[in-house]
Amino acid sequence: MIKMINICKTYNKNRRNEIKVLQSLSLTVEQGEMIAIIGPSGVGKSTLLHIIACIDSSDQGEYWMHDRLISGLSDKEYSKIRNKHVGIVLQDFALIEEYTVLQNVMTPLMFGKRIRRRIMKERAQAALENVGISELLKQHVWSLSGGQKQRTAIARAIINEPKLILADEPTGALDEKTTDDIMQLFTKLNQVGHTIIIITHDPVVAKSCDRVLFMRDGVLYNEI
Ligand SMILES: Nc1ncnc2c1ncn2[C@@H]1O[C@H](COP(=O)(O)OP(=O)(O)OP(=O)(O)O)[C@@H](O)[C@H]1O
Ligand SMILES: [Mg+2]
Repeated sequence: MIKMINICKTYNKNRRNEIKVLQSLSLTVEQGEMIAIIGPSGVGKSTLLHIIACIDSSDQGEYWMHDRLISGLSDKEYSKIRNKHVGIVLQDFALIEEYTVLQNVMTPLMFGKRIRRRIMKERAQAALENVGISELLKQHVWSLSGGQKQRTAIARAIINEPKLILADEPTGALDEKTTDDIMQLFTKLNQVGHTIIIITHDPVVAKSCDRVLFMRDGVLYNEI
C-alpha cells in the first residue's frame, strides 16, 4: 500500500540551524497492517507522519501509495490524495471546540465532491456509531472528556472511509482505561480493513500493533 524509498527531509537547509531529520528512510506498509512507530522525542516521527499523510513533502526519495508515485506531485494533488485516502488523528485532537460533535465530524465532507447535507449527516452519524458516541452528536466539543474528544477525532478521520489511518500520539493525553478503549477501537477499525500507523511513546499501545518500528538517526529499524 505504501512504499517509501530513501526519503530525506531537512529543515532550514543550508542555514546554520540546518537539521537533517529523515536520512534515506525506507518504509513498506502492506494493506491491512497495524504498525506502531516509536522513538525519542524530536527524532522525526511527526515529520514522517506528515509526509505519509501528504501534509508535507520530502526533499528527496520516492513515495508510492497504491502503486502511484506521490513524491513530486503538486500541492493540489496532495490535498486530493489526503482527502480521499488518508484519515488523520492528532494528539491534541485538532477539533473545533465551539462546534458540535456532528459538525466536527462532518468537516472533511465540506472539501472535495459536493455532498447533500442530509447525506453528510447520515455519514457522520454512522461514523459516530462506529466509534461508540452517537448519543453525543449535538454536544459541543468543549464539553467533552478527553476520550470522547479522541473518539470524535477518530470519527472525523474515518468519515471519508480512508484505507489509511494515521495517528500521532492518539493516547498521549488519555488515562490508562481510556487508552485501552481507544486501542480497542483502532483494532476494530483495523479488523474491518483500515491500514493503521500509530506514533506512540506508550509501550502498551505499541504492543497492541502487529509490528513496531523504532526511529533513530533519521531511519526506521524493526523493533525485536
Ligand atoms: N517546520 C519545522 N521547521 C523547522 N524544524 C522543524 C519543523 N518541524 C519539526 N522540526 C524539527 O525537526 C525535528 C523532528 O521533529 P518531529 O516533530 O518530527 O519530532 P518527533 O519525533 O515527532 O518528536 P516528539 O516525540 O516530541 O513529538 C525536531 O528537531 C524539530 O524541532
Ligand atoms: Mg511528534
